[in-house]
Amino acid sequence: MEHNLREAGFFGNMEPQQITEKYGSPVYVYNEETLRSRCRELKSMAEYPHFVIDYSIKANFNPALLQIVKEEGLEVDVMSPGEIYLAKMAGYEADEIFYICNNVSEEEMRYAIEAGVTTSVDSLSQLEQYGRLNPGGKVAIRLNPGHGAGHHQKVVTAGKKTKFGIDVEMISEVKAILARYNLTLVGLNQHIGSLFLDKEQYLKSVDTLLNCAKEFPDLEFVDFGGGFGISYYKEDKVQRLDLKDLGKSLDEIMYRFAEEYGREIIFRAEPGRYVTAESSVLLGTVNTVKTNHGKKYVGTDIGFNVLMRPVLYDSYHEIELYGKHAETSGVKETVTVVGNICESGDILAEDRELPAVKEKDIIGVRDAGAYGHVMSSNYNGRLRPAEVLVKNSGEICLIRKRDTLEDLVRNYVLLP
Ligand code: LLP
Repeated sequence: MEHNLREAGFFGNMEPQQITEKYGSPVYVYNEETLRSRCRELKSMAEYPHFVIDYSIKANFNPALLQIVKEEGLEVDVMSPGEIYLAKMAGYEADEIFYICNNVSEEEMRYAIEAGVTTSVDSLSQLEQYGRLNPGGKVAIRLNPGHGAGHHQKVVTAGKKTKFGIDVEMISEVKAILARYNLTLVGLNQHIGSLFLDKEQYLKSVDTLLNCAKEFPDLEFVDFGGGFGISYYKEDKVQRLDLKDLGKSLDEIMYRFAEEYGREIIFRAEPGRYVTAESSVLLGTVNTVKTNHGKKYVGTDIGFNVLMRPVLYDSYHEIELYGKHAETSGVKETVTVVGNICESGDILAEDRELPAVKEKDIIGVRDAGAYGHVMSSNYNGRLRPAEVLVKNSGEICLIRKRDTLEDLVRNYVLLP
């Protein structure tokens, strides 16, 4: 979909302003068609018959969205008992859920084992812990291929400077623990990091992973990880990772491996962002426009409690204006768009050129569907926003209520 999303029909039968009036501002608006089309692109990216796409639900675990993702035939990977619970709520069966854990307690691991979910551990000691809890069981391990990729150092999840995975040099120790607890290694996985647009690093790590895979005769699957990039800059020529091209390279690799291994195992990829990011626009309202020491600030209700990415990773999100002022005025100006949190770092977009903005205009932050609502908080006592879905029919339905003040205080216990 091209600029502007409202003209492209993203908001179905309602105007952005009507949506904020009905569901409160800010509000996350998802588009069913966009979500389904990303799922379909992923499903058809490779031809190998046992290539499974696991949606990494950490990007967005709204159960109504998961229902759609499930309908499209994607399985899921999860990171915690909470995510197992959410996936089950959306109708996922245990054998469609892959639990990839990192530094978890016995209690958390036991939850996954009892839920019947395949578990991947990411250290030797966690493999021992798994063995103690489930001797004779089936397990997967996460390997660290020794190099990573990602849009920011904070989201590079493999390589020598990260906490993730078991070093590929430690295969003999892995084998010893497997033997000690009579465990069968059914899966190998990795995840090099989040958001790459160039397939080379990914393929390099796939190569490393498959070299290790040859060491284990009982594998049911090998999971290459996620990280498939989209471009947050909508004017860019490269909009997203070229899935077909990556799929073609993976096909060659998967067929070749199956032949060498002697049977066709399952291969997986676990994208999160690619599935949901572009399916959502976060709508907010301009409350103030002011000039401070020569700099023009557009003060909105989208604080970093609502969308953390710009503050946490300096992430860029395209901003569109939907107010009637924005439509009529052709004038552009350079402004800094900020939220309503009491920190000076609460900046959504710095020195951005936008059509002249007026108070009460509605702004839309694009590509907010991944790592948006799931990373929101009640900081400053603010209420987390509603989430709504624009169905293919154009109708809009509520898929998460906006917090109420009662929600905000629900778990607090006053002193007697
Ligand atoms: N698998 C594992 C084991 C992961 O840790 C992640 C993301 C994924 C898959 C999915 O990665 P994706 O396809 O979404 O790139 N909050 C950050 C991103 C953190 C990603 C963490 N792990 C952001 O907003 O950019």
